[in-house]
Amino acid sequence: ASDDGEAGAGEKVAAAAAWTGGLSRRSFPKGFVFGTAASAYQVEGMAHKDGRGPSIWDAFIKIPGEISNNATADVTVDEYHRYKANLLCFTGITPYANLYHYDLPEALEVQYGGLLNRKVVKSFADYADFCLKTFGDRVKNWMTFNEPRVVAALGYDDGRFAPGRCTKCKAGNSATEPYIVAHHLILSHAAAVQRYRQKYQLTQKGRIGILLDFVWYEALTNSTADQAAAERSRDFHVGWFLHPIIYGEYPKSVQEIVKERLPKFTVDEVNIVKGSIDYAGVNQYTAYYVRDQQPNATTLLSYSSDWHAEFVYERNGVPIGPRANSDWLYIVPWGPYKAVTYVKEKYGNPTMFLSENGMDDPGNVTVAQGVHDATRVAYYRSYISKLKEAIDGGANCVGYFAWSLLDNFEWKLGYTSRFGLVYVDFKTLRRYPKSSAYWFRDVITGKN
Ligand code: NOJ
Repeated sequence: ASDDGEAGAGEKVAAAAAWTGGLSRRSFPKGFVFGTAASAYQVEGMAHKDGRGPSIWDAFIKIPGEISNNATADVTVDEYHRYKANLLCFTGITPYANLYHYDLPEALEVQYGGLLNRKVVKSFADYADFCLKTFGDRVKNWMTFNEPRVVAALGYDDGRFAPGRCTKCKAGNSATEPYIVAHHLILSHAAAVQRYRQKYQLTQKGRIGILLDFVWYEALTNSTADQAAAERSRDFHVGWFLHPIIYGEYPKSVQEIVKERLPKFTVDEVNIVKGSIDYAGVNQYTAYYVRDQQPNATTLLSYSSDWHAEFVYERNGVPIGPRANSDWLYIVPWGPYKAVTYVKEKYGNPTMFLSENGMDDPGNVTVAQGVHDATRVAYYRSYISKLKEAIDGGANCVGYFAWSLLDNFEWKLGYTSRFGLVYVDFKTLRRYPKSSAYWFRDVITGKN
């Protein structure tokens, strides 16, 4: 080859490495899993057909003003009909099935008050049993709940999600209900895992876990008070669920602050809750600085005010990161590194998945804008690189799932937020792969 030719090939290799950031399947431990995540309510549609009864979200979105543009999820991106075409072929795709992603049957809400009633524990275990029995020959990776913290906090503390309860809402009590609901979610999770272990796991040879959202909280300053506030925030966020699951009790800070408002586990319950995961999914998108904020006489008692902490989005005038379209999402690539390393150090390094990660970029409304998603490519490149650092440092993270394959129904934001690797024209429902889809393909096929 001529010198020119060699230089050309060298440049190509360099360009490819810059594109993937040097990441490829080969840079991860053997057997590492890459995937994309989605939830039924956000993508399926078919709200009223084939025997599907309404969920608490179907009831919630009917309330005018709750969802941007009063959008519904009746059709969303029609995955109910189109999933086969989207997957192209099933060969080599392993399902990771989660049993509950925010959409409690409305019938249970009406009949007995849904997650506030302890009866839900048995309902959930029976439902889980049905799924495990029916699909367990093919599904070997189960999760019980997605983001139970979001369910309890947004559903019962600030009322932003279904069923929309909070002290300031029409009904609810933010000081007690989030804790009751969280307790029932933990017991429901444990009851489902118990069924799996007693009836199915041995023969089906699968595993079961839970998906937990985890914003990383970094102390704003080195002061003891801010350091404690950051740790408390982690306790009130991920520890609220993970601590009982690993250690059989709520974090000490939560116990000390919430006191008699915090439900207690009986000895029998501790026995089924403690150790009730084969793996933990960590949904990680963002990080905030935190400073100590002690309550005063006017502070309204609630789950969020119990944290005794305030979120801050810049330090010494420097933003923690650029903001995405969603108001809660700051782009902070070191977030997953810290979160996964924290679970490793504080919770005994369980098998973990980075089970959701992604962003919605502002201003990507049209197809032409949407498919050129350079910000999202940079997001994935930097976040996955940092995750790899944590894995190289010994974190037992065995898989990564991007949120999401397709643009879809983003809860309160309806269709005004696009997290997909693939753009969806919400009028025609046509799909258009974004640059990030090609980027993801190039990383996981490991060509570069
Ligand atoms: C977390 C949730 O599990 C999912 O439903 C949501 O769409 C994404 N994060 C993005 O907000």
